Amino acid sequence: MARLGFGIVGTGLIAGVVADAIARSREARLAAVSSRRLANATGFVAGRPGAVAVEGVEALLGRDDVEAVYVAAPTTAKEPIALAAIAAGKHVLVDKPFADVASVARMSKAAANAGLAFLDATHFVHHPRTAAVKASKELGTPRSLHTAFYIPSPDRGNIRLDVNQEPTGALGDLGWYSMRAVVEYLAPAGRVAKAAAVLERDPENGAVVRASGLIAFEGGEASTFDVGYTAGTVAMDLSLFGTAGVIGMDDFVLDWADSFAYKNPDLPVGYTFRTGPATRKDVTFIPTPTAFAQEVLMVDHFAEIAASGDLARRAAYAEAAIQTQRYLDALWQAARS
Ligand SMILES: NC(=O)c1ccc[n+]([C@@H]2O[C@H](COP(=O)([O-])OP(=O)(O)OC[C@H]3O[C@@H](n4cnc5c(N)ncnc54)[C@H](OP(=O)(O)O)[C@@H]3O)[C@@H](O)[C@H]2O)c1
Repeated sequence: MARLGFGIVGTGLIAGVVADAIARSREARLAAVSSRRLANATGFVAGRPGAVAVEGVEALLGRDDVEAVYVAAPTTAKEPIALAAIAAGKHVLVDKPFADVASVARMSKAAANAGLAFLDATHFVHHPRTAAVKASKELGTPRSLHTAFYIPSPDRGNIRLDVNQEPTGALGDLGWYSMRAVVEYLAPAGRVAKAAAVLERDPENGAVVRASGLIAFEGGEASTFDVGYTAGTVAMDLSLFGTAGVIGMDDFVLDWADSFAYKNPDLPVGYTFRTGPATRKDVTFIPTPTAFAQEVLMVDHFAEIAASGDLARRAAYAEAAIQTQRYLDALWQAARS
């Protein structure tokens, strides 16, 4: 199979991470990178053989060697770029979060109507650990989930603290993973029955820097979450409570072993399980090793759905993104009412 030719819009932090993942993927290659300033794109492609720097999204979309576009821009800029890419006949990989659920629906529908793939760029979904947890029989039926995702405070100039670029701040940036964990692991069939969230805002710029809350569903499943930039450290804790035990992770977003932020081969990737009146020493660790980092697998899986035209798989990924954003929207609305 020919490698999928990627164009990247944006030259920031996550654009670099995914460019590295494309370089490590067996199914993709980096064709071009666009910036609003050519100098940024030129700097970005230095050391990335085969990639061309261009100024502006239009120049990227006009290239025949760009078959797919990865949108690594701030949230308020994502949809127009993605829709333009789809109109130009490109598959789209768009980073999370989104403006709202209607925005995700418009992008995924436009892609489907054009016979193109749409995927949100959530890395952990592609780790074999996620599939292993979803397939685990020992948990019984998953009923409730608690997640916490904290990262240290970004610099004052970071887009995360700019309400014009990232309107929902930490709720969208980090709460996305909490809600995606709900979609993947609790998989509620019913609608949202209750949503409650409290937000902490930066006193200077009003950005959401911490969010805590609860979301519950018609079928009785419930999830509590706690996310933000205010804890002075990284936390990525997950507890999934089933009818026969509890699954745990302390790195559910970015595994400590081999993700873009961490390289600790001495910290095996997997999850814990405990059942019955177990103490801490009775906890079982179930390893879920992977030969490739989750962001590389994401690029591989995107290339696969682009090449194969597997409509069911495309629709399942799109639906997961829509559900995730729907739950975030419910929390955002609840926090402000
Ligand atoms: N999936 C993940 O693991 C992950 C991780 C981190 C971030 N993200 C998400 O990805 C998005 C970007 O985050 P980041 O940390 O990479 O931000 P960043 O470092 O600020 O980079 C954003 C880039 O977008 C480009 N840009 C800015 N405004 C634009 C516009 N109006 N139109 C087109 N391009 C524009 C800029 O490139 P030029 O100035 O060169 O044009 C900038 O470098 C955020 O929504 C964030 O939540 C996802």
